[in-house]
Amino acid sequence: MTERIVLAYSGGLDTSVAIGWIGEATGAEVIAVAVDVGQGGESLETIRQRALGCGAVEAYVADASDEFANEYCVPTLKANALYQGHYPLVSAISRPVIVKHLVKAAREFGATTVAHGCTGKGNDQVRFEVGIQTLGPDLKCIAPVRDLALTRDKAIAFAEEKGLPIETTKKNPYSIDQNVWGRAVETGYLEDIWNAPTKDIYDYTATPEFPPAPDEVTISFKAGVPVAIDGVKVTPLQAIKELNRRAGAQGVGRIDVVEDRLVGIKSREIYEAPGAMALITAHKHLEDITVEREQARFKATVGQRWAELVYDGQWFSPLKRSLDAFIEDTQKYVSGDIRMTLHGGQAIVNGRRSDTSLYDFSLATYDTGDTFDQSMARGFIELWGMSAKVASGRDIRVAGQ
Ligand code: ARG
Repeated sequence: MTERIVLAYSGGLDTSVAIGWIGEATGAEVIAVAVDVGQGGESLETIRQRALGCGAVEAYVADASDEFANEYCVPTLKANALYQGHYPLVSAISRPVIVKHLVKAAREFGATTVAHGCTGKGNDQVRFEVGIQTLGPDLKCIAPVRDLALTRDKAIAFAEEKGLPIETTKKNPYSIDQNVWGRAVETGYLEDIWNAPTKDIYDYTATPEFPPAPDEVTISFKAGVPVAIDGVKVTPLQAIKELNRRAGAQGVGRIDVVEDRLVGIKSREIYEAPGAMALITAHKHLEDITVEREQARFKATVGQRWAELVYDGQWFSPLKRSLDAFIEDTQKYVSGDIRMTLHGGQAIVNGRRSDTSLYDFSLATYDTGDTFDQSMARGFIELWGMSAKVASGRDIRVAGQ
């Protein structure tokens, strides 16, 4: 029987050419798998037909948009995960869900190998292959761009020679990856890290310098999950989409960073994640009133570690699973409403309420109704400073000798 290879298919030039390229290099049949993670753009049926037109023996489309929102974006939100303090893991969290569907397709169509279109320089090759090793340890991996010398020029020549139903003339100098959680743009003139991004880079966000009138929004959460916007019930997918639209119109969520790739390269990336950044901001502010101080402080460290693991392709690792359990436990009381103003590139919280809040007005107030016994503070401070005071006494004594 002819060997079968499942290819992660985007519909773009490289993966379209990869279908025939892999076929010629290996003699295998190629099954194209496109996964909908809310990337928008062309219809998946158009993409499916193109895969067949490029020589795939089967083309399979997986609608994973709700699954992606519920099982990948929501955990990222619960973790307030920002790699290196900036990047909400847009591409990093899409790889594991794509891997899941690739492995499923490999089983369904009897394939022995999984292929993806990544280069040998990035994080995504690691995320795909570590994921496949974990979910389908018997499956082999192949990356035509990296392993079969499929360069951009060769791809264009191949497509033209074979008359593939794909545009080869459109020159896009950028490498773009997008899904409902955000959009990542790199390469081209952005590789000079002093160059500011030009307007044409952006798609999810409008220019924040010329914003429309401020937009006030109330986001309701239940146990860390967004459940309503302005009182209207929403699914996580709907919440992200609605905030992509509203925060995007205000230019919220533009990020320009040089980040540390797992492979040891520093690279410049432009992100836009209006919905993700508005949601993370709101969620963090709700945690501020509902999560106990020590738990909150520790959670910040856990969230950072979680982001690093996910960035580094360890989505399916035991440590990531353990951290998920901790994070989930902290979300028990993260329920309530956050009101925020979206305007001029910013999402600024201006109100919060929760039935499970730890904010105690009678403890906090400086007005009548104060129940806090201020006389307790003196003794507390004495003891709190004791250890440093003893040490400082020793420093003075030693210095005087
Ligand atoms: N640097 C990001 C990451 O590794 C995004 C990579 C997405 N690819 C792109 N072509 N922009 O998660």
